Amino acid sequence: MTSRDDLGDVDRHASPEDALAELHVHVEGTLEPELMLELAERNHVTLPHGDVDYLLSGHEFSGLQSFLDLYYANMEVLRTAEDFSDLARGYLARAARAGITHAEFFFDPQAHVVRGVPLEDVVEGLSDAVAVSRREFGVDAAMIASIVRDHPVPDAHAMFGELMRLQAPIVALGLDSAEVGYPPSLFEDVFARARAEGLHITVHAGEEGPPEYVWQALDLLGAERIDHGIRSLEDPALVERLVEEQIPLTTCPLSNVRLHVVESLSVHPLHRMLDAGLAVTINSDDPAYFGGYVDDVFAALHDELGLTEEERKLLARNSIRAAFT
Ligand code: ADE
Ligand code: ZN
Repeated sequence: MTSRDDLGDVDRHASPEDALAELHVHVEGTLEPELMLELAERNHVTLPHGDVDYLLSGHEFSGLQSFLDLYYANMEVLRTAEDFSDLARGYLARAARAGITHAEFFFDPQAHVVRGVPLEDVVEGLSDAVAVSRREFGVDAAMIASIVRDHPVPDAHAMFGELMRLQAPIVALGLDSAEVGYPPSLFEDVFARARAEGLHITVHAGEEGPPEYVWQALDLLGAERIDHGIRSLEDPALVERLVEEQIPLTTCPLSNVRLHVVESLSVHPLHRMLDAGLAVTINSDDPAYFGGYVDDVFAALHDELGLTEEERKLLARNSIRAAFT
């Protein structure tokens, strides 16, 4: 297992023109059907949704919760450190093919601990993949532990204490899962602990939740990045603040379409966000579920939203600037 210090030694790739970071991807959301089936067999786990056709058919989600129900159910196949290593390596290999040179991926410790998987095994498997990533895939990688916000607050504290005890090589603490009804304010104390440990802070806010949650993420949790943040556009004073402080918004356009945050890609407010001067980055969120990896997202933005080459370069520069490591 690497120590947190090992992650400091990151260089940028030869040409800055080619550098591209992915900053908002849940490693559990990169669990492709093929690997899911392989792990189910390896671990003698019956898939919650048994047939391959179901897994491969692509899903209609009615919103974030309907996606999360499937996302958490499918995690059942992830049992050992080796499984987590295979998962992360699969993502990093695919990210390299998407042109990613730097990846900071989330994982959901509580979602595994509640199933009886030791946190140590999760961290060991993921960090093993991170340790070989530059050499094997040409991708500098880092891990972000994320609090599952619809679990009890004391569980978040316990999980964080355990991560610190294990000296888990994480670069940041995040906050994800079902947003509405679980405001950032609930987690002020855990994030204060994370800041005191020198960790970076990034918070899912303004995906389904109101702009008020984005304000709370900034003011109460000390968020340096906002994950999604698309509903910030409803509050001009918030947009002004985000522009002024150049707080990165890690947007995920394909996710927004699949989870009905926007009606279709052709009406996604990406141009409006860029024109306002917001520090937007492009990400895949849960690529196994939402129709593709970052290269697919850029291709769709080009085809359906008329994303220009100049905008693509700006988004790539934003991603590098917004990286924590
Ligand atoms: N966990 C995985 N994907 C997520 C998303 N889009 N929003 C909140 N939590 C998540
Ligand atoms: Zn997310």
